[in-house]
Amino acid sequence: MRRFEEVPGGFCLETLCASSFCTCPMLLFISILCRGLGQLGVGLANLLRKRFGKDNVILSDIRKPPDHVFDGGPFIYSDILDDKSLREVVVNNRVTWLFHYSALLSAVGEANVPLARAVNITGLHNILDVAAEHNVRLFVPSTIGAFGPTSPRNPTPDLCIQRPRTIYGVSKVHAELMGEYYYYRYGLDFRCLRYPGIISADSQPGGGTTDYAIQIFHDAARNGRFECTLRAGTRLPMMYIDDCLRATLEVMEAPAESLSMRTYNVNAMSFTPEELAQEVVKHVPGFQITYNVDSVRQAIADSWPMSFDDSNARKDWGWKHNFDLPELVTTMLSFHGSNTRVARAN
Ligand SMILES: NC(=O)c1ccc[n+]([C@@H]2O[C@H](COP(=O)([O-])OP(=O)(O)OC[C@H]3O[C@@H](n4cnc5c(N)ncnc54)[C@H](O)[C@@H]3O)[C@@H](O)[C@H]2O)c1
Repeated sequence: MRRFEEVPGGFCLETLCASSFCTCPMLLFISILCRGLGQLGVGLANLLRKRFGKDNVILSDIRKPPDHVFDGGPFIYSDILDDKSLREVVVNNRVTWLFHYSALLSAVGEANVPLARAVNITGLHNILDVAAEHNVRLFVPSTIGAFGPTSPRNPTPDLCIQRPRTIYGVSKVHAELMGEYYYYRYGLDFRCLRYPGIISADSQPGGGTTDYAIQIFHDAARNGRFECTLRAGTRLPMMYIDDCLRATLEVMEAPAESLSMRTYNVNAMSFTPEELAQEVVKHVPGFQITYNVDSVRQAIADSWPMSFDDSNARKDWGWKHNFDLPELVTTMLSFHGSNTRVARAN
């Protein structure tokens, strides 16, 4: 049986916007391709499957997915650099929405510039062409790393100078501009959010500069101490993964006329390692943080925004975060906490 027939009447995009009153004159079938099953992609895949039905969401990566992802619905091996296979997946599955998460992150990218350039830039070109040819709504995440030392850093607005000094940042500015260009030139429905550092409990960090803010919870719960790769006072914008994934769905579902731009900053909180440690110690008595600064990551962090101005996202499509620092720390430690120091302390 065809996937789409399993959903009575298919999906109407307007009803997916949580509107109970739909005036949409026609029903549009939706088949979603989610590429890149790393720290964020797995969470997004789970959310999309819950929301749109597991058989309407096709997952893809070049790495073996975890069992629960593989067993939970369709999975296809597809290399972002193979544009023919990408085209085949989109056509054969009548894909209408595509979430493009395949990338090399900041610290990993600096360690292998040619690969980062290929995956993050050539891979993006392949995605843009296929999406434009086949009328696919495309989401590509950008990052605080798309700004650089000459950008205003506290706060950083949507529109300002962007001169990043990492291949990761350069590739993300390129993605933002190419997506916007394809929107104006070919009518591609390109949507993009600049994520802060994303903190999640149930997946491993993918080699980004903000990884410390995930690892600290693993180590606090297990050992009661943590060695940080950034200096104590390094302030960066951060967001809990539930907020990040909800923002992604909300901007994808936002009516086209509400979007005044194609790329938006989204923000939740900003903190330093020292402030994060002060919050952790409230739950893990005796917790200790020490510092062993990684010069590559520190130089990257020193060129990134300290806080993000996301007033356009809040105004245009109603963005609102749910998690501030105290809720983040409670949530992360209760995930890691069973049978550990956190549980014993509470
Ligand atoms: N994690 C964060 O804090 C954060 C912050 C801002 C933006 N982002 C963006 O979100 C996206 C996902 O980030 P993440 O943290 O999940 O990254 P990740 O490194 O955990 O996952 C990236 C995935 O891309 C896949 N991939 C790499 N090369 C590929 C190729 N040639 N073909 C197909 N797949 C390939 C990898 O196998 C991996 O599963 C990225 O675009 C990243 O820039 C992440």
